Amino acid sequence: MAGKVQSDIRKKLLDAFAEADGGFLSGQALANLIGCSRTAVWKHIEGLREEGFVVQAVKRKGYRIAETPTALTGDDIRLGLKTRFIGQSIFYRETVDSTQKVALLLSQDKAPEGTLVVADEQTAGRGRMDRKWHSPKGTGIWMSLLLRPNIPPQKAPQLTLLAAVAVATAIEEAAGITPEIKWPNDLLVEGKKITGILTELQAESDRIHSVIIGIGMNVNQKIGDFPEELKDIATSVAMETGSEASRSKIIREFCAQFEKLYLMYLEKGFYPIKLLWESYAKGIGGRMRARTYNGVIEGRALGITDDGVLEIEGDGGKVHLIYSADIDF
Ligand code: BTN
Repeated sequence: MAGKVQSDIRKKLLDAFAEADGGFLSGQALANLIGCSRTAVWKHIEGLREEGFVVQAVKRKGYRIAETPTALTGDDIRLGLKTRFIGQSIFYRETVDSTQKVALLLSQDKAPEGTLVVADEQTAGRGRMDRKWHSPKGTGIWMSLLLRPNIPPQKAPQLTLLAAVAVATAIEEAAGITPEIKWPNDLLVEGKKITGILTELQAESDRIHSVIIGIGMNVNQKIGDFPEELKDIATSVAMETGSEASRSKIIREFCAQFEKLYLMYLEKGFYPIKLLWESYAKGIGGRMRARTYNGVIEGRALGITDDGVLEIEGDGGKVHLIYSADIDF
């Protein structure tokens, strides 16, 4: 409990600094705003400094955040996060095996909806179809979002498509590049993968316990940082823009975009998300090859159904519904 109260103080402190937007706030004003003692404010400011924040202290003016840490930290992500619940509970660790695993444990421990697990490095990152996900230290965004939607389990794949739209928009807003979505949820720039999404569902036949959406985004890797087998097929935000990007800014943007879309989805259903997804989709209307567990299906991609299932019209005119596959163009 003591830990919980502390982190609430830290959250309020960060909100106050974000609101001040680089301006000064006196120790007393902070204490009043947060509802704690000046000593508690000072202790938390020391905590922020230890994390790499440069907090300037000037007599009769107070404190201001002059610089944020270069390394990714939970508090840096929180600074200026304007959501109601997505990312409001952040679980940040420097190294984990997989953020998916941590998020699952937290979900069993009654963590609130919107909890975001973020790591600077994963030692056993997982991709779709049991593939490994290369997650080196200090370069990418490796995170898992915990949701508890009140929707039938068969609709859960729609959330993957929603997440893909949220990531695409976040990259656009934060870095100024527009990714394309390859069905169902790979994000590509110039045909190379910049982000992958893995959705895992814990459910009974008629009820979802939790959905964990794992997002792996290449942000500041240079070509030499990728293993040989990925060099031709992967890219990063920095490789596309030519400059390093702030991972915390992209995460905050993602949280804001995801929350907006998720609330719209819960209120209005999948249709508006489908339209947005199609606006980013690569290859709809053109030829596509789907490698499924049951063989290869080739033809014209017609679009997605209201359930997010891909429709391919085979050369004989038959329309195939694709639930899971690797896609080539
Ligand atoms: C894919 O195969 O394209 C999906 C990759 C998903 C990787 C992310 S990184 C954060 C989260 N933790 C994991 O172990 N995997 C997902």
